[in-house]
Amino acid sequence: SRKIIIDTDPGQDDAVAILLALGSSELEVVGITAVAGNVPLKLTEKNARKICELAGRPDIKVYAGAIRPLARELVTAEEVHGKTGLNGPQLPEPTMPLQEKYAVDFIVETLMNEPSGTITLCPLGPLTNIALALIREPRIAPRIKEIVLMGGGFFEGGNVTPAAEFNIYVDPQAADVVFKSGIPIVMMPLDVTHKALTTARRTKAFRELGTRVGTATAEMLEFFERFDEEKYGTDGGPLHDPCVIAYLLKPELFRGRRCNVSVETTSELTMGMTVIDWWGVSRREKNAMVMRDIDHDAFFALLVERLGRL
Ligand code: BDR
Ligand code: CA
Repeated sequence: SRKIIIDTDPGQDDAVAILLALGSSELEVVGITAVAGNVPLKLTEKNARKICELAGRPDIKVYAGAIRPLARELVTAEEVHGKTGLNGPQLPEPTMPLQEKYAVDFIVETLMNEPSGTITLCPLGPLTNIALALIREPRIAPRIKEIVLMGGGFFEGGNVTPAAEFNIYVDPQAADVVFKSGIPIVMMPLDVTHKALTTARRTKAFRELGTRVGTATAEMLEFFERFDEEKYGTDGGPLHDPCVIAYLLKPELFRGRRCNVSVETTSELTMGMTVIDWWGVSRREKNAMVMRDIDHDAFFALLVERLGRL
């Protein structure tokens, strides 16, 4: 099985991504590292533990990382995710412990101790923890098998500002470190995730699983999709972060192109924009596989099947 570290700021869609990973025997979750993002760190690390317990996996190691971005004030997204970050279901307070080790140390130590090229990083939030790990120990870079991340946007534009997607906007300096690292990157931008819409029929399929996980997922999605339905007039909301895990399980569901991605870190107008050289008009090196299309029916079928195993 493939070893992954999930770096996350749950978030209902982060939660579904974690459930998808825990429901899939092809993946071994060696740790979950929490970062400040959708809500402050105290809530994201707690939410990560709530989800592990929901999945019946209190053995998963959850670590807390950065409380704020590298250089900017933390921007959160309670208007999307609710005050707790995980509004919707009534999940019990977690009883499994938070690990004492700092998440950044865990990432560095795991990469230095495990055989080179065996660990995949799955960032689902701002890239602060990943950048801090790369800054602390640059020798981890060539040891990372791949980074598969949710962030950015191009043809779709942004969802925080006209130019920027939330995860990149919150910590553009960290994203810049990651995109310049030379590590193989697969990127799931809004262009993909806005094609992975929940819809009432799809949410119902989770509820019809008749399990605690199925019911909680339906309740999370019903809360989560309201924001996008009102804002974009869509039927359903975009299931951003599970695209990352789905790619590890079934890469053939996605279509994209290798190109250069550079992050804007200075302009106030376009701060956090991912400048994607889709047409290859610059001489800049191709540093990421940028996805643009998804087989969304197969994606939802995969989600229902795997969450049904929990
Ligand atoms: C991203 O921002 C967060 O609100 C979601 O969890 C997702 O990771 C989408 O822009
Ligand atoms: Ca997220």
